[in-house]
Amino acid sequence: MSNTATLNLDGKIYEFDTGIGTENEKYIDMAHLRSKTGYITLDPGFGNTGSCFSSITYVEGAKGILQHRGYPIEELAEKATFVEVAYLVIYGKLPSENELMNFSAGLKEHAPLHTNLEHHFSGFPKSAPPMAILSAMLNLVACFHPEVLEVTSDGEDFDKTATLLLSKVRTIAAFAYRMAAGKPINHPNPNRGYCGNFLHMMFSDPYQEFQVSPIVEKALNLFLILHADHEQNCSTSTVRVVGSSRANLFSSVAAGVCALWGPLHGGANAAVIAMLQDIKSSGRKPEYYIEKAKDKNDPFKLMGFGHRVYKNFDPRALILKKQVHKLLDELHINDELLDISRELEEATLKDDFFISRNLYPNVDFYSGILLRAIGIPLNMYTVMFAIGRMPGWIANWKELLDHKQRISRPRQIYTGENKRRYTSLIER
Ligand code: CMC
Repeated sequence: MSNTATLNLDGKIYEFDTGIGTENEKYIDMAHLRSKTGYITLDPGFGNTGSCFSSITYVEGAKGILQHRGYPIEELAEKATFVEVAYLVIYGKLPSENELMNFSAGLKEHAPLHTNLEHHFSGFPKSAPPMAILSAMLNLVACFHPEVLEVTSDGEDFDKTATLLLSKVRTIAAFAYRMAAGKPINHPNPNRGYCGNFLHMMFSDPYQEFQVSPIVEKALNLFLILHADHEQNCSTSTVRVVGSSRANLFSSVAAGVCALWGPLHGGANAAVIAMLQDIKSSGRKPEYYIEKAKDKNDPFKLMGFGHRVYKNFDPRALILKKQVHKLLDELHINDELLDISRELEEATLKDDFFISRNLYPNVDFYSGILLRAIGIPLNMYTVMFAIGRMPGWIANWKELLDHKQRISRPRQIYTGENKRRYTSLIER
């Protein structure tokens, strides 16, 4: 294969280097296009733009492949814990027994929040969306640990910042829920693991510590693993863009939380359940919603369907679909929303609009049913996604600094007014 690409532009020939990734992904290096030719590439939504080299996660959309550091998601989902996967995603290798012990000890040590932070939670109105609280509190927590405001991507300082963030995000999420629900907060219990501790902080009562069922703990572990990273999606790209200005990890991730909040991204998991509830209460057939989603004059979309990269199936959705059935059986739950989701999926699989556009259920389609089954309230669903995505955001921020990547600064094509003169108020 030739290692240059030739561009014939305005009668001149230009050559650009091409390259190949470890999974045979091909690219043309256009970094010097503008300086060589005066042109820029135009790619709104960045569907064809590689913004970095990365060795964290590989996604092959046509084949439904997802691998973290080379390990298939199916294997990680079946065999690993979220803490192991977090270590793997951040540090690039599965931890040894000793490394895992130290990493877990750090997570335990950093779980409590500074007591002066507690009253900040009660400053939010009761109706405050937990995603707003999470994003705001991440920046606030960092103020109580000035050392994490240092920008460093290796050594003990980075290890501490990463562990602190991974651990405290879970405490912030649980405290936000307890405060909004008017319930006393539960401090972390150092004798519990990552998932069990979160469930305890969410659901223990003052006189009765929550008994964490191993089935529920396993389901939460699976949910978090399936969200651990997903290469250059909207929120991760946001973390990278913010981090490229050498903003600290906490502020970069707080921006990532805001990007994740939107219903086209992480907010879809709650939107799916709202949609399924709407189908149930309206008594309408799924076909009604399918027709609505196809109507170009209607902004409605089938939530939990479609993906920028997966054009065959989302492997995370396949794992979830199977596990959600098992979970509901094990917990003896009969959730009508699962039947509706199955009907909806089956109807789309027969519909030309969905077939021709390769629109299949994505990770958010079944994850809400899992969260419902383990008792997570609807307004916390996207927060759960954020907790799960933390390793990916941390790893991408670290990689960006390790690679000394330039500040992100896309170009645009200006389509506004040409130069004109200012007119005074009476002349207008
Ligand atoms: N319902 C109806 N039509 C859809 C849907 C949908 N969910 N998704 C895409 N389409 C149509 C879209 O209108 C377009 O039609 P046409 O070719 O006639 O203009 C065609 O399919 C191609 O879609 P696209 O606009 O190129 O898709 P995109 O890559 O810009 O957007 C998406 C991807 C995930 C934002 C979009 O599919 C969507 O809005 N889905 C619903 C929200 C959702 O489930 N989001 C979660 C994504 S996965 C996890 C995550 O990232 O958080």
